[in-house]
Amino acid sequence: MTFPAVNKLVLGIESSCDETGIGLCHTEHGLLAHRVFSQIDLHAAYGGVVPELASRDHIRRIVPLLRETAAAAGHRLQDVDAIGYTAGPGLAGALLVGASVAEALALALDVPAYPIHHLEGHLLSPMLAPERPEFPFVALLVSGGHTQLMRVGGVGDYRLLGESVDDAAGEAFDKTAKLMGLGYPGGPALAKLAEQGEAGRFRLPRPMINSGDLDFSFSGLKTAVLTAMKQPAYDESQASDLAAEFQAAVVDVLASKALDAVKRAGLKQLVVAGGVGANLALRERLHTAMQRRGGQVFFPPLEFCSDNGAMIAFACALRVAHAQLPANGGGFRIRPRWPLSELAEA
Ligand code: KG4
Ligand code: ZN
Repeated sequence: MTFPAVNKLVLGIESSCDETGIGLCHTEHGLLAHRVFSQIDLHAAYGGVVPELASRDHIRRIVPLLRETAAAAGHRLQDVDAIGYTAGPGLAGALLVGASVAEALALALDVPAYPIHHLEGHLLSPMLAPERPEFPFVALLVSGGHTQLMRVGGVGDYRLLGESVDDAAGEAFDKTAKLMGLGYPGGPALAKLAEQGEAGRFRLPRPMINSGDLDFSFSGLKTAVLTAMKQPAYDESQASDLAAEFQAAVVDVLASKALDAVKRAGLKQLVVAGGVGANLALRERLHTAMQRRGGQVFFPPLEFCSDNGAMIAFACALRVAHAQLPANGGGFRIRPRWPLSELAEA
């Protein structure tokens, strides 16, 4: 590889969904600065992300955010040596904004631009914490679009151990929150309501907990919640107990499978990444369980749980530092659907 791996300043651009994120990472000194603009207020009125509005807002935010991040790091954009951008998976129009800006900037600065897999960003984000895991580890990736267990052997070495056969954990939180009238984004609102309730007063299933494999299924849970809400005895005052039971069901299944994956892989480190990794009940459960097993669980700092540019800059910087440069066949490419298992052949 001709691009030298040391002492590089790497810019990261994230625009796959409803957050515009920019990060600036140095291969030796780590993350220097990052900025995120969340579109939550923009989409809230519609109860979910409106793709066209998302793309348009990325266009509005991305350049000012680039300047702001560079200034916060004490750098000029001209100092950047390489650019990583989220090429997928995500919303096509939204991805195109980040890809176009990355490629245009790369051309203007005469530096390389690399397509980065969004989930690789999430997967490596716990390494942005002061106390970071060492390879190899098992990763539980729990976002709005994905629920996967993976064995991470090193940069670019990701083996899928199990995944959701239907809804992702975050999606289950969001859909259930919507059913319960908690608005958008539902996950954090449902988790907050759950804190005021008590699990066990309602009885919800723990789907696939005894399936003997490392796969998940969450779509039945929202139906079970709906059934509970339709009972004549149900009233609004019980909403927090129902939320607590829902959260306990999701946490039970996620924790059970994640711990099983760690055991099967014969490893001692578990890493949790993605938006649902912000869930405090999940954090507590895994922390206690891994400690009891003489192992350790790592989470990204809360600010890096949801989508951000720091994790894309960091993933790209790691790839640069390990001379594992993502293939860029000239011209830019986005992949709205891009299984992580196909990363090697990108
Ligand atoms: O990783 P992320 O920001 O976006 C995707 O790549 O999907 O994850 C967003 C997901 C949403 O489904 C959101 O409801 C969920 O993470 N989430 C939570 C919490 N905070 C965010 N779910 C449960 N508890 C939370 N505290
Ligand atoms: Zn994400």
